[in-house]
Amino acid sequence: MTTRHLITSAIPYINGIKHLGNLVGSQLPADLYARYQRARGNEVLFLCATDEHGTPAELAAAKAGKPVAEYCAEMHEVQARIAAGFGMSFDHFGRSSSPQNHALTQHFAGKLAENGLIREVSEKQVYSIADGRFLPDRYIEGTCPNCGYEKARGDQCENCTKQLDPTDLIEARSAISGSTDLEIRETKHLYLRQSALKDDLDAWIDSKSDWPVLTTSIAKKWLHDGDGLQDRGITRDLDWGIPVRKGDADWPGMEGKVFYVWFDAPIEYIACAGEWSDATGGDWERWWRTDKGADDVRYTQFMGKDNVPFHTLSFPATIIGSGEPWKLVDHLKSFNYLNYDGGQFSTSQGRGIFMDQALEILPADYWRWWLLSHAPESSDSEFTWENFQTSVNKDLADVLGNFVSRITKFCRSKFGEAVPEAGKFGPVEDALIADLSARVERYAAHMEAMEVRKSAQELRAIWAAGNEYLQAQAPWSTFKTDPDTAAAQTRLALNLIPLYAVLSAPFIPDAAAKMLTAMKITDTGWPDELASFLQQLGPGHPFEVPEVLFAKISDEDREAWAARFAGARA
Ligand code: 2FM
Ligand code: ZN
Repeated sequence: MTTRHLITSAIPYINGIKHLGNLVGSQLPADLYARYQRARGNEVLFLCATDEHGTPAELAAAKAGKPVAEYCAEMHEVQARIAAGFGMSFDHFGRSSSPQNHALTQHFAGKLAENGLIREVSEKQVYSIADGRFLPDRYIEGTCPNCGYEKARGDQCENCTKQLDPTDLIEARSAISGSTDLEIRETKHLYLRQSALKDDLDAWIDSKSDWPVLTTSIAKKWLHDGDGLQDRGITRDLDWGIPVRKGDADWPGMEGKVFYVWFDAPIEYIACAGEWSDATGGDWERWWRTDKGADDVRYTQFMGKDNVPFHTLSFPATIIGSGEPWKLVDHLKSFNYLNYDGGQFSTSQGRGIFMDQALEILPADYWRWWLLSHAPESSDSEFTWENFQTSVNKDLADVLGNFVSRITKFCRSKFGEAVPEAGKFGPVEDALIADLSARVERYAAHMEAMEVRKSAQELRAIWAAGNEYLQAQAPWSTFKTDPDTAAAQTRLALNLIPLYAVLSAPFIPDAAAKMLTAMKITDTGWPDELASFLQQLGPGHPFEVPEVLFAKISDEDREAWAARFAGARA
């Protein structure tokens, strides 16, 4: 029976090109899962978008000297192109500034208001005299009251993940001018009454026994620590954003204000499906409305740990509070941080490797393999050039690439460019098939469970088993005395290539496609029954020797790249 999978990746901020740490915590594992589920014959809707509102967008546009709408349109194209370069198989890559998201965000606000879950608060807000404006949360920096981190932002401390209000910061300063000449002035804002939904959220999170500990522990912490779940300001004094309205109606007193970026960004997951519908004629409601068929959809979100509070508390509060039958997330896969060579990847400091730079150096598959096989799941992980070189050279070049090259070249030289007919499989082949069957099952179980590293390990072991078989049976030696047995060994080894292609495709889609092209086969199906799968390329089936799948990284390259990326990005 097929399952329907709705898959979303955290939507990246528009303010610049993302680094590999961002990629490995959201888009890349989401793509892995989407590709895997499609390979299993399931129906998938995989969505991502750019997160275009809020101060990061305004600040970046100002820095680029462009009107913010123009900046966002350009950067959306740039991010879409780079994501495609990394092989992201989104069904739609939307924009949180879309008309669909404007309408839906205003709709949710209206419903929440109708249900008594929004309160208007006259509050004091930081005003910068030097800058002549109210300072939204992100324009204020200071020391985190929770952990003492000195560069905490007014909305959240990136060090300890605590959600903050700007007035919580110690020694606050303007992020625009650095001025500490700040004063507090009175202004009116809307608050989402998350506290009124605390019990619903608590019960909902308790029902998720299969969520990663990282996810539930962060959610529980913000539900129960200190004073418990706080109401959340959902409006801001900014020009750029979604105007505050109650559905289609004006919201008296809220003129000139926009919704907070974290209120409208997750709503874009839904609006994005609407954009996809409008672009393709698809039916988005059957993915998102439980009254319109989405009951049997399995919804999985992927994100870095700093995004967990918003996805386990604030966004579900919006959905539950609307009182409407929207789909809630079923599984939330969160990631720790990837560090870069002894420190943090940092967008603001230009530290680490950024997605465009990575693709300038090597094709996507090299990065995809390293990043996924070292995904920061149970703890933070670290990119080093040495580790990257070793992993590429050993796993991709020596094991997988070498296997494919060796057996296709050997067959061409002794039997020609078609699968040889002679000989029969014996006990060694039966044992290999039994071993691989068990491994394929384990691989599938890890992929279903989104255990990214374990999946990569099993895949590597599957490649290695083929290599070891070839090494031990050595058809090039057997051929001298027993060409029929050598032919059977070669036939089996050639049939491992489509197996490797279908299993590896979620990790390294380009190499997988090259393997299939070389073996002149387009659709292999999933290896449910391995013994018959491994007879798919029957006697006489033509193939060609593919070009080198993976080139090794030399010491010179490694050193040059390490030096190139040692400083901050210009
Ligand atoms: O951390 C980030 O990059 C945010 N832009 C993620 C937003 S995800 C969601 F809310 F849409
Ligand atoms: Zn902190």
